[in-house]
Amino acid sequence: MKERLLKIRETATEMIESSSSLKELEDLRIKFLGKKGELTDILKGMGKLSKEERPEMGKVSNEVRNHIESILSKIKESLEQEALNKKLNSEVIDVTLPAEKVNVGNKHPLMKVFDELQDIFLGMGYKIAEGPEVETVYNAFDALNSPDDHPSRSTSDTFYFAPDICLRPHTSSVQIRTMQNQKPPIKIISPGRCFRFDELDATHSPMFHQLEGLVVDENVTMADLKGALDLFVKRFFGSNIRTKFRPHHFPFTEPSAEVDVTCFKCGGVGCKVCGGTGWIEILGCGMVHPDVLEECGIDSEKYSGFAFGMGVDRITMLKYEIEDIRYLFENDMRMIDQF
Ligand code: DAH
Repeated sequence: MKERLLKIRETATEMIESSSSLKELEDLRIKFLGKKGELTDILKGMGKLSKEERPEMGKVSNEVRNHIESILSKIKESLEQEALNKKLNSEVIDVTLPAEKVNVGNKHPLMKVFDELQDIFLGMGYKIAEGPEVETVYNAFDALNSPDDHPSRSTSDTFYFAPDICLRPHTSSVQIRTMQNQKPPIKIISPGRCFRFDELDATHSPMFHQLEGLVVDENVTMADLKGALDLFVKRFFGSNIRTKFRPHHFPFTEPSAEVDVTCFKCGGVGCKVCGGTGWIEILGCGMVHPDVLEECGIDSEKYSGFAFGMGVDRITMLKYEIEDIRYLFENDMRMIDQF
């Protein structure tokens, strides 16, 4: 037995010392020391030895195991060191090479316009209110006084999850959420994403952005609405820009109007941006319908309010002369980098 052990010691030493890869080394470890390895195999025969022989053999086999383990780890270390040296030599860094160009990001033009709009309204004393994009039909339509048969409620106009849950088609639902949770005076804007079942083309996208405004207090009149929007327009488009209120209809306001501004590109003479009319439509607005106030638990005899809503994509396109709404959502850096 002793001879066999010493023979293993000799062969193992030889094989391990001449091994040239970590994989080979691991195979040798298994071959000699593994559960089914040669050393283990011999030790299984220990039981057959006499009591006197056993301690001696135990000692020899321990010595052989320790020896094999120690040369395994010695060779392993030197193979690892060799591999590392090889890697370091092949990865020499040439500090004289020009650095890789770092691309600095750029704010999306739509977000720039959102920032600017928010800055202007915050400066006018408005607070920001947010609401969810998945909305109840009650908040999106019913509470806003929208008639049951209004075309915008149809499944070909609005995305529904269930008969009473939809993707909000406008930010006006935030008006309801705000008035139901807060008593006047209220002065908020609500920026956010909206969704409509529109075919994607140069001027329509099923996902778009609005900014809503709502002011409710005692003695709020149409003059306040006109003053507020006129101030906003001058701050956003320029102090020479004039506004025009055209009568319109929205279920949630009475009276309602659409606001046009003189074309900031041609000054009102007529050009490509304004389609030759000299005017550009930018938003819808009106005096909050008393039924909407009452629905939200606000006394319409005591309080009145105005509201407005604008398409932020449209305003961005006008401002930066972007001809196709799809450019805003394609994330093409060649387009975004320009602004
Ligand atoms: N919700 C309207 C739309 O999506 C925009 C709008 C018009 C909002 C008049 C208002 C408003 O708050 O008073 O077309």
